[in-house]
Amino acid sequence: MSAPPEPTILALESSCDETAAAVVRGTRVLSSIVSTQIEIHRQFGGVVPELASRHHLGSITTVTEQAISAAGMSLEDIDAIAVTEGPGLSGALLVAVQMGRGLSFSTGKPLYGVHHMEGHLWSAYLGDAELEPATFAPHVAMLVSGGHTELVEVRAVGRYRVLGCTRDDAAGEAYDKVGKLLGLGYPGGPVIDKLAAEGNPAAHAFPRPMLKQPGFEFSFAGLKTAVLVHVERRGAPDSRQALADICASFQAAVSDILVAKAARALERTGLKRLNIVGGVAANRGLRETAMARGATDGFEVRVPPLRYCGDNAAMIGAAAAARVQAGVVPGVDVYTNLPIDDDRVLFA
Ligand code: KG4
Ligand code: ZN
Repeated sequence: MSAPPEPTILALESSCDETAAAVVRGTRVLSSIVSTQIEIHRQFGGVVPELASRHHLGSITTVTEQAISAAGMSLEDIDAIAVTEGPGLSGALLVAVQMGRGLSFSTGKPLYGVHHMEGHLWSAYLGDAELEPATFAPHVAMLVSGGHTELVEVRAVGRYRVLGCTRDDAAGEAYDKVGKLLGLGYPGGPVIDKLAAEGNPAAHAFPRPMLKQPGFEFSFAGLKTAVLVHVERRGAPDSRQALADICASFQAAVSDILVAKAARALERTGLKRLNIVGGVAANRGLRETAMARGATDGFEVRVPPLRYCGDNAAMIGAAAAARVQAGVVPGVDVYTNLPIDDDRVLFA
């Protein structure tokens, strides 16, 4: 008997500052539209929640229509709808959730809520329509974004155990704060990454907080302060090279800490695969450090294609597809805080 055809899923995402919609079949992306608000928030140096909600409201209909038509489909071709239900900004989350509820009500198609970080887990498996889907094997996931830094043991769909997270700033947040204090604008991550390529990572010995402590927790606030103190003592960098050296040294510290803890998590769990996901997974230094460590320690490293590192709806659709297959009962709520190992899932 042949397997039943995979459902075609329309996915929506509006948890932070990207309004996104996608059509997927499993991990195959048929269309993915992302409308970013970065330019709107840049002048304020960070995401302004009220502005985010308003701009999501203005874009969600267009983005949804674009995703359906870019997939060469109409609403009738969609089997199920998925939406990010948390964690995220409450007003922002509500926009896609209400859109999903409206579409589900008017078409009678089931609506599934997806954990935003579970979506990021799936981003590492997304591919174009022609690609054979990859298997979601047990692995350690390092979730590194503007709001999260955590190591998660992933055994199977819905079976997640948080091994450790940050005590203060997330890795992306540290990038953004250091970017701000160096006058590089928002978000700092991509700019620091680019400048770091021109600098000497050994120029400044910035600290590696928590590196020596046992366990899987992180702390980035002290590292950010170390960069601040460095700039206050020596004055703002007076050349592109001096700036690039600070960026490279900061990036080396972040990458060393993240990869050392991830390697420890692999050793502890006995797993042989590390998936790095979230906005910071785009970071060149982090990718290189992880690959090098993987080569010496004997583990595989998987990262999403660059276009799926940041927030997108295709990852939400892929996570939903796996849940549908696992027999999860449809249903949606809005959660501003929601641990990834929360036991809220009801199976049929
Ligand atoms: O996953 P994401 O798009 O949104 C959240 O859910 O937070 O992550 C955004 C974060 C920002 O802090 C941004 O500075 C960081 O990811 N980021 C990077 C890079 N690209 C984005 N950090 C370091 N290097 C990059 N290349
Ligand atoms: Zn995210």
